[in-house]
Amino acid sequence: MAITLAFDVYGTLIDTHGVIAALERHVGKNAAEFSRTWRDKQLEYSFRRGLMQNYVNFAICTSNALDYTCSFFKVALSQQEREELLDAYKVLPAFADAREGLERAKKSGYRMFAFSNGTADAVETLLKHAGIREYFIGVVSVDEMKSYKPNPGVYSHFLRKADALGADAWLVSSNPFDVIGAISSGMRAAWIKRSQEAIFDPWGIEPTLTINSLLNLAEQIGGPCSYPE
Ligand code: LAC
Repeated sequence: MAITLAFDVYGTLIDTHGVIAALERHVGKNAAEFSRTWRDKQLEYSFRRGLMQNYVNFAICTSNALDYTCSFFKVALSQQEREELLDAYKVLPAFADAREGLERAKKSGYRMFAFSNGTADAVETLLKHAGIREYFIGVVSVDEMKSYKPNPGVYSHFLRKADALGADAWLVSSNPFDVIGAISSGMRAAWIKRSQEAIFDPWGIEPTLTINSLLNLAEQIGGPCSYPE
């Protein structure tokens, strides 16, 4: 059976810190730290919404997190500036290795999907804007489950939608919580560790594979370490 790959989107294919340039106009030298807090809070809100079973879509988590981060950094944005930042988030750039990494994986014959906390519409827009939509059979969103990663239900949902079995399906993600979620749900998972400083959560659950770039993905999944006994 062909191997199925589920590519995480925000933080793996698409660089959420692509808003830093737009942020610099508003928060100057705090832009990088602002962006990190915004992203951390967005994820925290998704986790909490999932746990509380009080779902709102990911764009709302993003917008609520922006308001929190503005309060935290004592930044007052006009309605228009706020909208500009949220619009920038809809057209974030792909990481430099994304296109070529996807191209190599596609050529190797993997069944490829995007699998995200973002709504299908938001993810379609991002991937098209970044010029990488063509590599995917489809987009699977947690929105269809009204919950968030790492709820095991959303990984099962992915497998059903992709018509795949966990043993033949890999999550590809830079987000350790996502990698642990997928492995706990019976999938395999490749952790894309682009930075030397990135830390994997010490839970005793390890990625099936760790690589430092999407460029090596196709070759490594096909390699001898792909199916450990
Ligand atoms: C996503 C999150 C993890 O794209 O950012 O699913």
